[in-house]
Amino acid sequence: MDLKGRIAVITGATRGLGFAMSEKLASFGAKVIMACREKETGMKSVEKLKTKGLDVVFKKCDVENVAEIDALAASLSAEYNHLDILINNAGINGEPMSTTIETVDLAIFEKVMNVNVRGTLRVISKLLPLLKKSNDARIINFSSGLAQLSVPRMGPHISYSISKTAINQLTWTFAGHLKDTKVKIFCVDPGWVKTDMGGPDAMLEINEGIDTPVWLATEDKSKLQSGYFYKERKILPW
Ligand SMILES: NC(=O)c1ccc[n+]([C@@H]2O[C@H](COP(=O)([O-])OP(=O)(O)OC[C@H]3O[C@@H](n4cnc5c(N)ncnc54)[C@H](OP(=O)(O)O)[C@@H]3O)[C@@H](O)[C@H]2O)c1
Repeated sequence: MDLKGRIAVITGATRGLGFAMSEKLASFGAKVIMACREKETGMKSVEKLKTKGLDVVFKKCDVENVAEIDALAASLSAEYNHLDILINNAGINGEPMSTTIETVDLAIFEKVMNVNVRGTLRVISKLLPLLKKSNDARIINFSSGLAQLSVPRMGPHISYSISKTAINQLTWTFAGHLKDTKVKIFCVDPGWVKTDMGGPDAMLEINEGIDTPVWLATEDKSKLQSGYFYKERKILPW
């Protein structure tokens, strides 16, 4: 896979799937902008990949912070004047498993929606002018199996599920808005992956969890359908 000359931005790149995707895309030759919430931990993660000779760059971006998203867009515009791949990976769950309809905490709900949905929306909105300058631009939004409406579910994770279903709707709606452009947009369920969020009992290793999003970032664009929800390299029912 040769991504030489391509510029990628990955949010939430400090650890977990975001870090692993940064390493993978950079190993294919892309310049990867690792957009990280915290300066200290983010710089450490970037340094780890730089010592492997990879072309990665630190940018501070807490996706809850509108000014930081705007600053990210301005600096990318000044330094690269285009963007090829945007991976909206930053995400949180943050709600106790025991939460019920009666005990749902609106502060947690608002926080989860702010990071997962509002953050994704704002990042796309501000970086779209740069993506429109690419001949082959892709936006990959991180969803979850918990977003799926077509499977019976009586699960926990109220706020998280609602936020991820909203990301699916955002992806579908934006694909309509982007249909006459060269920008493709997808959402992805990575599966249940062993990260800090997924926990040690998860079924997939990190390299398995990043397979489909990395494929969406690299596969021949004519083989991909914009607007859809992908898992294991296939379109998943909503
Ligand atoms: N793991 C799974 O089983 C699984 C399953 C389905 C979907 N997903 C989705 O996959 C994505 C990555 O998950 P993961 O398992 O890698 O999670 P993780 O290990 O908890 O890592 C989450 C990453 O998001 C960053 N982040 C959190 N809040 C942020 C904010 N406000 N601004 C910018 N970055 C922020 C974190 O930064 P800090 O290090 O600074 O906290 C961290 O780098 C998430 O969207 C998640 O919902 C995961």
